[in-house]
Order: sequence, then structure tokens, then C-alpha cells
Amino acid sequence: MDRFECLACGPLASRDPYSPFCTGCGEPLFIAPGVRSGGKVIHEDRTLALEKFSDFLPLDSIDPRLSLGEGLTPLLRLERVGTALGLAGVYAKNEAQNPTASFKDRGTAVAVQKAVALGIRRIGTVSTGNMAASTAAYGARAGLDTFVLLKEGTSMTSLRVAGIYGPRLVAVDGDYGALFRTSLEIGKKLGITFMNSIDPYRMEGYKLTAFEIFLQLGRRAPRTVFVPLSSGGHLLGLMRGFADLEREGMISAYPTFVGIQAQGCAPLVRAFDAGLEKYEPLTDIRTIAHAIANPTPPAGNAVLRMIRERDGLLLAVSDREMLDAQRELAAAEGLFCQPESATTLAALKKLAAAGLIKERDGKDVLVLTGSGLKTPGLLESAPIEIHRVPLEGLEAGLARLF
Ligand SMILES: Cc1ncc(COP(=O)(O)O)c(C=O)c1O
Ligand SMILES: [Zn+2]
Repeated sequence: MDRFECLACGPLASRDPYSPFCTGCGEPLFIAPGVRSGGKVIHEDRTLALEKFSDFLPLDSIDPRLSLGEGLTPLLRLERVGTALGLAGVYAKNEAQNPTASFKDRGTAVAVQKAVALGIRRIGTVSTGNMAASTAAYGARAGLDTFVLLKEGTSMTSLRVAGIYGPRLVAVDGDYGALFRTSLEIGKKLGITFMNSIDPYRMEGYKLTAFEIFLQLGRRAPRTVFVPLSSGGHLLGLMRGFADLEREGMISAYPTFVGIQAQGCAPLVRAFDAGLEKYEPLTDIRTIAHAIANPTPPAGNAVLRMIRERDGLLLAVSDREMLDAQRELAAAEGLFCQPESATTLAALKKLAAAGLIKERDGKDVLVLTGSGLKTPGLLESAPIEIHRVPLEGLEAGLARLF
């Protein structure tokens, strides 16, 4: 039996298996880190990410047949971007290289391993994009009956990208924020295990990104980690991953985490700047960054607590800044990520411009959470120069471009 804990209440005596919230205070719950006599080790010789880091995961065994090859994504040095900022060690952790092109696969992989081990047959998720596709794909792989609840009006691209895996797609007309909690209540009644954005097993999967960054930097922690922030599940998973490494004595310095929201939907940044312990839910959203536009982030208060405890930072960037950063990552480094993911570079630029990040010796990691190919529609207004030439004039036309 896994043990659970809440950041506010400590270890929990019991939990509702259909809810990711603490029964005492309503904040998210986490898997308590287990102890291993002799310490935990990273099994670098093993093949799958889940196998390499199995000592840190709440899984008794790992069924390789359920894997789609998640994780083990590249950490790429961004030389041009770094040079422009006067920073020698800027890196991108490219999560777009996961099986369904986003970081969500790491969390889904762990949650589905657990579900299958427990004999669960029906799983579900509430998502407008990446988590829908990821859950549908892993559900298909495991042969589970998979329910994907989407908001009425979700783009046809998102519907198709999830729908191809054959889940039961349900477009729900109504308040999307309320749907998160309603799905859990209905899941309990109907026996559907919803693995939404802050599911405790999902967050365990996100720890693996921290372990990989640690290995890729030569068994060291970076100076900063930049993560786009919506529900808060991803950021908290990463932070708990580095906390695991610290607990095992593998790192001496804990990285500074920077969580980034879109200016048009930044409830957590507002609370952080105002010094509040709890955020005020928003009603109005004005941003193109749908994947990180959550007016009522379910792990929001836990994020505020963890970021403060660890001297991290929350900040907001504008749509223009993220779109410019998206283009810069593509044109200067060959990395096409979602605008939501490019908020990380926009934030690094802000901190560098403010002189808050300057020394040349630290390593700064941008977590690029998803592929730009998922949201091509957002590029419709982006300028693309096309040179038109007749076939007979091709040579001269190309020579003119030198
Ligand atoms: C591309 C992308 N980046 C970041 C996030 C935010 O992750 P979280 O909700 O775990 O904070 C999401 C969530 O859907 C996403 O799709
Ligand atoms: Zn609690």
C-alpha cells in the first residue's frame, strides 16, 4: 500500500482512491517518499525510463508492454540563445519528444502502470489538449476503456489528435473549472479512475524529468529550472523529483524554480506578488495560451507554498513575448515548441534583462513541455516570407537570396 501525504497536514491515514485531494484540507495529496534500506540508486543500465528510476517510483513492478517509450528526452544546449543573453549554460529539456509530443506521457505512463496493477479497467481524464491525447494513447496501449472529457468547442485538431486512439470522447457543455471536480465525483459513482492533471501518480511520473536533467548535467542540479504553470502538477512533480535527489544525498544545492503563467490568466503570479497564501480564482481569461490558462488551478495553493519554501519565483509573460520566444527557439535553435512552452524562454529573458540571472557558470534549464505541431493554428498570423519565382528564373531567384 502506498502512503500519502499533504503539504499542509503531513502523512495521511487514509485517502479516497477516486480523489487526488486531501480529505482533511482539500489540498492536493502526494505519494510519501518511501525509504529503501541502503539508499535509492539510479539503474542507468536499464532500458525504460520507469525502470531506470524505479527506486523512486510507487510501482512494485513495471510492465514494459504498457510503455510507449516515454521520457529519456534530450537536454540540448542552446548556444545561440545563451550567447545573446550572456549566459553560457542555457539548456532545453525537449519534452516534445515524448510519444504523444508532450510531458504528459511521463505522468500517464506511471498512472496507467498503477491502474493496471490494481486491476482497474476504466480510466478517464479532463483535458483540452495534451493530456487527452496522452491518456487516450496509453489507455489504448493497455487495452483500457478510456473516457476523455473535453470542453464543448475544443478545436477539431485537438479532438482528432485524441480521437485517433479510440477513446470515448465526451464534449461537455458547461463550466470547465467545475468539470474537474465533477469528473471525480462521477468517476467514483461509475467506477472510472480519473487521472487528471494533479493525480498523485501522474505527478510521480513528472519527477523523472528531474532525475534525467540531473544525469544529463553530469550528476548535478542546474541553477534554475523554468516550467510553464497551469494546474501546477508538472511543476510540483519536478520539484519533488529534486527533493528526492536531495534526500538521497545526490545533490547539494536545490535549483531555483521559476513557474510561468500567461499574463492574461495568472492567478498564481498575482497571489505570489501579493504575498498571499491562497490564490483568488479568476473568471476572465485573455490569452492564446490555452494549455496553461487555468483560472482555478487545483494545485495552486500547494505551488505557492512549495515555491516560497524553496525560494522560487512565479512570473507572467505576455502572448507577444511567448510567441516571439517560440519563433526564436525555432529559428535560432531548431526547436518548435508550443507557445506555452516558450514562456520559459520569455521568462529567462526577463530575468536576464533585470540582472537577476547573470553569472556565467550556472546552468539554466527551460522545460519545453509540448510540440508546436500540436497548435499550428496559433501561427496563422505569424509572418512567413515566401519568395515566388518562375521555374525558368529559379537560379537567379536563389542567387538573389544569398
Ligand atoms: C504544453 C503544456 N505546457 C504546460 C502545461 C501545464 O502543466 P500543469 O497543468 O501540470 O501545470 C500543460 C498542461 O496541459 C501543457 O499542455
Ligand atoms: Zn491536508
